[in-house]
Amino acid sequence: MTSRRPLIAGNWKMNGLTADGSSLASGLAEKMTAAGDVFFEMLVCPPFTLISKIADCLGGSGIALGAQDCHANEKGAHTGDISAAMLKDAGCAYVIVGHSERRTDHGESNETVRDKAAAVHAAGLGAVICIGETEAERDAGQTLDVNKAQIAGSLPEGATAANTVIAYEPVWAIGTGRTPTNDEVQDVHAFIRGELAGHLGESEAAAMRILYGGSMKPGNAKELLALADVDGGLIGGASLTVEDFWGIAESV
Ligand code: 13P
Repeated sequence: MTSRRPLIAGNWKMNGLTADGSSLASGLAEKMTAAGDVFFEMLVCPPFTLISKIADCLGGSGIALGAQDCHANEKGAHTGDISAAMLKDAGCAYVIVGHSERRTDHGESNETVRDKAAAVHAAGLGAVICIGETEAERDAGQTLDVNKAQIAGSLPEGATAANTVIAYEPVWAIGTGRTPTNDEVQDVHAFIRGELAGHLGESEAAAMRILYGGSMKPGNAKELLALADVDGGLIGGASLTVEDFWGIAESV
């Protein structure tokens, strides 16, 4: 048991229209309100189009709101992009940066991710920085090296346990129903914490939350969330229903 407050974060990805998104958020808000004081923190990250709407649905439930990406600049001539300041204005407390789907679909490099995370911090928001190896990298025995390089390249100056969360998401486990073994997850998380200590010092590393992401479901959440260096989850598919997402949160 650590003093790190577990974070149960839902990444809705490119899912949700007004009706189903509102009903999901309102259902979670009801559960949270009924539960009263809980040890974990809950976060939902809908698509940009629903952020204001979901802010209303979450109301005073205590569930935090986040976005799935932002631009590295505060404002200006960047058609189609959204800044961290805009997300803060819309009610967000967190922004996910460097998700593997953005690294792949949009060619985001570690440097891009680092600049985005710095922009999130500059806006006064928390950055959820995603890292993780592909299946080919895993098969080549490069898991630790890849995660080490992603941490070194993606962590901005000024990162602290208060403004940054790391999400370890093995790319091959995302949306596949496959997960590493519990021992593998714990080993990588402990390695990540060691790397963070090298960059930020022991005390920030000890306090920083490291989430696991990749096919987390109510059926495997309990054992994953019980691992010593796992401080919550970043959940995709199973964050899209109240039953599954709340079921995961309840297993903390
Ligand atoms: P799944 O939970 O659907 O595997 O997605 C994980 C993820 O990518 C969260 O960011």
